Amino acid sequence: MTGPSGIDHAWLPDAALRGIGSRRVTIEGDGPLVDTLRAEVAYAQGNAGALQGDADIVFRLDGDADTGPEGFTLTRSGGRTTVTAAAPAGLLYGFFHVVRLGAAAFTDAPEQTHRPALSRRMLNHWDNIDVHPVMGQVERGYAGGSLFWEDGRARGDRDRVRAYARLLAACGINAVCVNNVNVHGTEARLLTDRISEVAAIAGELGEYGLRTFLSVSFAAPVVLGGLDTADPLDDRVRDWWRTAADHAYAHIPDFGGFVVKADSEGQPGPFAYGRSHADGANVIADALAPHGGTVHWRAFVYNHVQDWRDRTTDRARAAYDHFAALDGQFKDNAVLQVKHGPMDFQVREPVSPVIGALSRTRVAVELQATQEYTGQQRHVCALAPMWSGVLGFRPEGEDGATVGQLADGGGLVAVSNAGADPYWTGHPLAQFNLYAYGRLAWQPDADPQQLLHEWTELTFSPEETADPERLRSGLRAVLRGSWETYEKYTAPLGVGFMVQPGHHYGPGVDGYEYSPWGTYHFADRDGIGVDRSRATGTGYAAQYAKPWSQTYETPESCPDELLLFFHHVPYGHVLHSGKTVIQHIYDTHFEGVEEAEAAQGVWATLADLVAPARHARVAELYEEQLRSAREWRDQVNSYFLRKSGIPDAGGRRIY
Ligand code: GCU
Repeated sequence: MTGPSGIDHAWLPDAALRGIGSRRVTIEGDGPLVDTLRAEVAYAQGNAGALQGDADIVFRLDGDADTGPEGFTLTRSGGRTTVTAAAPAGLLYGFFHVVRLGAAAFTDAPEQTHRPALSRRMLNHWDNIDVHPVMGQVERGYAGGSLFWEDGRARGDRDRVRAYARLLAACGINAVCVNNVNVHGTEARLLTDRISEVAAIAGELGEYGLRTFLSVSFAAPVVLGGLDTADPLDDRVRDWWRTAADHAYAHIPDFGGFVVKADSEGQPGPFAYGRSHADGANVIADALAPHGGTVHWRAFVYNHVQDWRDRTTDRARAAYDHFAALDGQFKDNAVLQVKHGPMDFQVREPVSPVIGALSRTRVAVELQATQEYTGQQRHVCALAPMWSGVLGFRPEGEDGATVGQLADGGGLVAVSNAGADPYWTGHPLAQFNLYAYGRLAWQPDADPQQLLHEWTELTFSPEETADPERLRSGLRAVLRGSWETYEKYTAPLGVGFMVQPGHHYGPGVDGYEYSPWGTYHFADRDGIGVDRSRATGTGYAAQYAKPWSQTYETPESCPDELLLFFHHVPYGHVLHSGKTVIQHIYDTHFEGVEEAEAAQGVWATLADLVAPARHARVAELYEEQLRSAREWRDQVNSYFLRKSGIPDAGGRRIY
């Protein structure tokens, strides 16, 4: 439980456990997760053995409590704090809640019951067993190798896995998919002859109430089973999946189910057999159903071999075009896992219209904690404000449900940003993204600034430093606006991409302009942006319900920050902000770099308040962030000056 040596304690440093550790604790109840709680309490108390006398805090399992399977009730009165839960998982979440509250957990307050808004709160690891010469081991991973797989097999030393599970439970996450959605040959076998390796990992994760999922290949019946088809309507295929699911559950009784990326970026899928994605998902769902398992079927299906000359194809339309018509056709234990935006985790995208179009389908919303397009954990980019905006979006307007509410059938998923790096996430400040994801999955309407405060208090223990307020305000200054700062010096006004092809790091304005991936900005000498209106463009705007279909339809009503996602406009087009598009591009790129410089300066002033190694790691990464931000500024500004011929009103240096 102490975590392997050299591994950062992240948001569970010993200081955060002191509030509980110094008090008398009673635990009433039994079961594996209650044992985990006992071990946590013993650790907090420094293994000194239970303190004697009346308890200050009681954890009580009470089958009659109205808390649901994961919730808990907190009572604080008369000098005693009680956590009551109907199930052991609730007690464990209650414990971590008490840790978060710190001293406030022991002052009188009205009774509160906490239940997660979403019952599935999952991380997807894009981890491979094998190490790819270019991609590395973790696809889009920026935190070292895999936490689960090493030297071609499941890690023998699983302390790290357990320490990870503990951190995840402490922020509310309850499921982990342990391998990449792109299932290569070696990893495909995790489903069959290598399932015991998955079981070993699942055993550790289960100690903290996390369910294990596995990414599987749709072609598994062919690749692993030797069948001549993976046609979902073929009885042999159906039988094969049943046997595979039975086998998985025989090894992992609390197994969660499968994640499937099908007919996407070269992965096999039902289209090869003329079948629908509902057919594909349902054959796997049926195999899992007797065990209570779930298939998470990804909606990231689009044409990735598009001809850039073909203006009739719009990648943004793809998820809706493929899946909206299938609404109501998926089995009860099939969840459609939809990326939050229609493209691919850009710094700014509208909310995917398909999320609001599936009233009869269980939907999970997928976020990307790993910072593929948001600075690859070399740039500070706190994503909670972006995610909070997505979760609070109402696809049917003011009176309709939020995305956070619409996800209650399938849950919230994030691609993990963690790896074998000693700080878990490469950039120590990227830990906040992992923490905030878990907390938002538990409570989608949580205030991101409050979450930042919570994380800061836990991780940096300001009260233990010489100047708590300077540390707090410094961390706030560095993280709070970092997403907007990143947006300012990268692709403008929602247009997206402009990255180096392949690895996606650093500027490449035309990097994807003539590529097959469907990611274009269409800049010419007169203007920039993608016309996705119904009237003159690709019709994507019409995939939204009202009022959004109208809001996005015209440049006049479209919000500035998404203007170039929805419209192609002249450089002289005047934004709601009063600036022209070209001047906005220049100004934001200068500002973005200035903001990053200022943040670097603030970080430098915290050297006496942050552990030296952590401080040094962040300071070093700021050097790279600034180098890269200046590169972005200069390439983007030069590109648009050359295209448009319109000088910067501020007369600043553009190359
Ligand atoms: C992005 C990413 C890929 C990943 C894919 C997915 O395109 O670059 O590495 O496989 O998303 O979500 O499946």
